[in-house]
Amino acid sequence: MHVPTLIARKREGEELSVAEVRNLVGGYVSGEVADYQMSAFAMAVFFKGMTAVETAALTRAMMASGDVFAHPPGNTVVDKHSTGGIGDKVSLILAPLVACSGCRVPMVSGRGLGITGGTLDKLEAIPGFRVGVAMEEAAEILADLGVVMMGQTERFCPADKKLYALRDVTGTVPSIPLITASIMSKKMAESLEKLVLDVKYGSGAFMKNRADAETLGDGMIAVGKEMGVEVHAMLNEMSEPTGCAVGNALEVIEALECLGGGGPPDLRKVVLDLSEVIAGVSRENLEGMLDDGTARRKFDELVVRQGGRVEDLERLSEIHRAPVIREITAPVSGVVTGVDAGKIGQASLELGAGRSKAGDSVDFSVGFDCLAKCRDKVSAGDVIVRIHASSQEAGERAEVAVLEAISIG
Ligand code: URA
Repeated sequence: MHVPTLIARKREGEELSVAEVRNLVGGYVSGEVADYQMSAFAMAVFFKGMTAVETAALTRAMMASGDVFAHPPGNTVVDKHSTGGIGDKVSLILAPLVACSGCRVPMVSGRGLGITGGTLDKLEAIPGFRVGVAMEEAAEILADLGVVMMGQTERFCPADKKLYALRDVTGTVPSIPLITASIMSKKMAESLEKLVLDVKYGSGAFMKNRADAETLGDGMIAVGKEMGVEVHAMLNEMSEPTGCAVGNALEVIEALECLGGGGPPDLRKVVLDLSEVIAGVSRENLEGMLDDGTARRKFDELVVRQGGRVEDLERLSEIHRAPVIREITAPVSGVVTGVDAGKIGQASLELGAGRSKAGDSVDFSVGFDCLAKCRDKVSAGDVIVRIHASSQEAGERAEVAVLEAISIG
């Protein structure tokens, strides 16, 4: 394999063979293909795309770059994955909730990607929480609790672990074949029976319009079908953030509210819409398990098992208190007509909630909460968002950004 030639052929829009795609992925995982070469390849794919055969080959190669789960017979194995959004803390609630319905949920998630947040970064806002559990331990946790929440490791989807981090910082995220292979390689390696995909479109998503989201969803359903998994894709608009909190610790706090039966209605709705598709019980049952604390108890058990402490969950706002908290008020009275998810996501990234280089650490404390929702009636002077920032200057920059993002008519 001559890597520069493969990159140049993809740059010219040629179709690579299944073996070439496999060798490239294998070489990348072994270190034979350098990060800069894979970045150039990802950019070529971004511009020239991949055929369905190439995308399937990439998915298979990434899945086969590590081990796959082997589940004992018994409970149905299911999962959910989102294509990425702003304030999207759904997984933190859905995974324990669906596990309470008797299904097994081996949820493998990612870190923040582009302007979107990542489940792993949110979980790591819980002191001690280990997302890098080994396969053997993951299988034990799954057997005992019915749920495990983890990331890609050196042994599980290592190709996605490396490529995901690279795409995050090289402007190569919003590519249908790269998103498809990234998501479906992880989900196929989980050895699922049923998967629900939350395919987002709008300013805060990688697919800016519904038609592109449909194409992405259809492509992922096709890959799932080929691999014998029942895949459902739900299209959900991401033009305003989900819920009222954006930022790692702030989103965990909001997820805990939802796990306790409260939280913003739009968050609860999307959790239930997606859970209903994969759980073996009715929506009413699922609602009951949020309201009576069953789902929250499952989450607490998971936190303890993966290294965290339940006491810390109640203290997250103290543990991750940002040095600067600014309340921003409505400049005029009226109705909120827009909260631009893309602008809020970008502002959150610039506050430090995401990365600008591979390996950067994220600031768990920064972000936004008390965010107004579309159709809210506000009076001049009402708080429409609180900014959590690491410095006065960062808070001032975020203020300009949120005032541009929130429109009141
Ligand atoms: N989630 C993933 O796991 N990968 C992507 O590329 C986008 C969302």
